[in-house]
Amino acid sequence: MPKFRRSQNRTKVIPLPLSIGGWCLVNPGGDPFGDAVRAPTLTDGLRACRDAGITHVSFHDRDLYPDDAPQEIIDEKVDQVLRLLEDSGLKVLCFTTNLFSNPCFRSGAFSSPIPAVRQAAIVKGCRSVHAAKRLGALNIIFWGGREGTEVFEQDSGEGVRNYLLGARAVIVYAIAQGYQGTFTFEPKVYEPRFHSFAATGAAMGSGIREFFPETELAARVKINPEYPQHVAMLGLNPAIELGQLLEEDLLGPCIHFGGQPPCRMDADFAPGLGGSPTDDFHVCKLLHDATYRGFVEFDCRPLRTSASEHAIRLFARQCVAYWRQLEQKVVTFRRDPIIRALQAEIFGEPIAQLEDVLTVTMPNAAADSNVVIDAVNRLPIRTFAETAAIDTDAIEAFGYRVQQIVCGTHREGATMFCGTRWAAAQAKTADAPVESEAEEASN
Ligand code: NOJ
Ligand code: MG
Repeated sequence: MPKFRRSQNRTKVIPLPLSIGGWCLVNPGGDPFGDAVRAPTLTDGLRACRDAGITHVSFHDRDLYPDDAPQEIIDEKVDQVLRLLEDSGLKVLCFTTNLFSNPCFRSGAFSSPIPAVRQAAIVKGCRSVHAAKRLGALNIIFWGGREGTEVFEQDSGEGVRNYLLGARAVIVYAIAQGYQGTFTFEPKVYEPRFHSFAATGAAMGSGIREFFPETELAARVKINPEYPQHVAMLGLNPAIELGQLLEEDLLGPCIHFGGQPPCRMDADFAPGLGGSPTDDFHVCKLLHDATYRGFVEFDCRPLRTSASEHAIRLFARQCVAYWRQLEQKVVTFRRDPIIRALQAEIFGEPIAQLEDVLTVTMPNAAADSNVVIDAVNRLPIRTFAETAAIDTDAIEAFGYRVQQIVCGTHREGATMFCGTRWAAAQAKTADAPVESEAEEASN
């Protein structure tokens, strides 16, 4: 049997639920060179989100109460937020301990070479567990903004070990306290530290495998990437990283999402600004092809040029509209006859002997040597010249067609394919009704 190919998934595109960082809503628009330009309230922000169709919100501990707040103040502040949430109808998705703003974490938090600092990070993380439980947070995030170095004052391997074991202490404590949710690490390639530990999805995935080997923990400890910001700022492509996270079952219950000009400082622009709509489309398509059911959480903010109290409303609408447009484009892609013809040609027919080789050599297959050797010898390849003669023009054509779909020019763009072998497929199916209701996006 040919393996199910996710990239040809044609199931229903179910719109993903949406969330936002509470810190984004109250962002005052200051930057390292300039003062605040606005003073937005959480109440207004939550209303704007509710009206736009965002159903969840996330908080850092420090967004709600000062780091040294006594328990009564923490309880009071959590109560206040619960009331605000009741009024706005939003629920809490993630809770995260801010281990980057307090000057005590200037040498790192979980990963600091200084034991007294590592201990402070663990205590702060464990305190957050109680607030997370009270708020009903479904997930606890660890973003290691300060987990890194500039001068390699400690062995970088030990830095990673301290980072992950410190977070592990908080996770094990949370489970001991009866916290039922999941935990995610949010990697970021660099900034504010110049060199960050476990800074990409791949590096963090490998860290999770090493430091959370137990089945129960491995099922609950995952990654929430931030796309495109946390990878595109180094010129990496989010769709490459996301594909691997999905393939290796390392994706947590949300991704962070926004806009980012490539190879620049973390911009946290609104989605659609500054980045590549094609990469954004592929992120959306990968999630839907994998029938992901987690949240898209916007971790971005209005530009500093937006200083009026109205800006947040349009910003919230842009977040939602842009993501929904991407989902609509996934529907268009899946229905597109030219794409179907191109995919049919690119993926070709399965080769039974190839499947056999992959079966007997796959992880834990434990086939004996003769079986493996026989299977490889049965591969029906004759000359490499024959393989080189295979027509692969469909791959570039696929790129053109995706670009048309992303730009919304696929109707007029179809004429460009006239006279190609993929246009024939279009003629055959163009007037056919949509095959089933299952292909409709429900938004
Ligand atoms: C950095 C990370 O993207 C995010 O998740 C973190 O908690 C916020 N920005 C804090 O500003
Ligand atoms: Mg983020």
